[in-house]
Amino acid sequence: MSLSPMHTYQRSATEYPELAGRVAVVTGAAQGMGACFASGLARQGVNVFSVDVISEALNQTVQTSQSDNSDIERRPGSISAFPADVSSRTDMHRVAEHVIKRCGRLDIWVNNAGIFPQSEIAAVSQEQLDKTFGVNVDGVFFGTQAAAAQMAHGGAIVNMASVAAVRVRKLRAVYSASKAAVQHLTSSLAVELGGAGIRVNALAPGFINTEMTNWVRETPGATEKALASIPLGRIGEPSEVLSALLFLVSDSASYISGHTLAVDGGSRHG
Ligand code: NAI
Repeated sequence: MSLSPMHTYQRSATEYPELAGRVAVVTGAAQGMGACFASGLARQGVNVFSVDVISEALNQTVQTSQSDNSDIERRPGSISAFPADVSSRTDMHRVAEHVIKRCGRLDIWVNNAGIFPQSEIAAVSQEQLDKTFGVNVDGVFFGTQAAAAQMAHGGAIVNMASVAAVRVRKLRAVYSASKAAVQHLTSSLAVELGGAGIRVNALAPGFINTEMTNWVRETPGATEKALASIPLGRIGEPSEVLSALLFLVSDSASYISGHTLAVDGGSRHG
């Protein structure tokens, strides 16, 4: 009997009842994996604060996830929008302080926001370099600093690395270096924050179907080329990364810290 490829990833997310009532921040949550993470956490009863620089799209994700706006920020399973820039230390502390003021606790912080520049080395400007590291690396650092300062009873932080940290390709030197930094920061921060009961882990997705990878679908031949290096032979869905995220922030992962979990269809070996 042959199984449809859909069979492998259309299951609804595993339930983690212990997550209900916890409070989370997800950055880069206006679209793509961040939006999927926010709604997936909310479905587990987590009270989610969605952070992004594009506030219009952010508000749309919130509106589709709630039917009643009254006192929404305190309700388990709700999603609230908080426009902010992860590359700003001030913004990240403002988010964490706001969450504590509204909910009195902060349990989960997902450093998901990221940008994906592609450029020949000779064409990389100082501005592009600064912006990429500002969002992808400083963003993870500031988010973790702000979260750790408010996680009075421990917590779980998850950073978005990438298969690009270990599998290098032309035009991606800056992006790959930024994601390698995220992977390294994850282990360093886990060592430093373990004593406070804070677990720090990372996800390293491969090719996932989001707005970030639209360019592949729009470039003739690029999808076929990408698929050739993915052992599972297909593009991943945000829901498949969500499954890994829910595991890492749940109590099932209570003794896992400093780990980078690949969710890439095997492509780091492809
Ligand atoms: P996406 O481009 O669909 O969404 C990223 C979100 O981050 C956007 O809503 C954007 O507005 C937001 N953002 C960008 N700069 C920001 C800033 N300074 N402050 C706050 N928000 C900001 O991307 P996608 O695909 O959902 O990626 C999420 C994460 O996963 C990123 O860190 C990305 O590098 C990583 N990743 C994605 C892969 C993929 O194939 N889609 C593969 C490996 C890693």
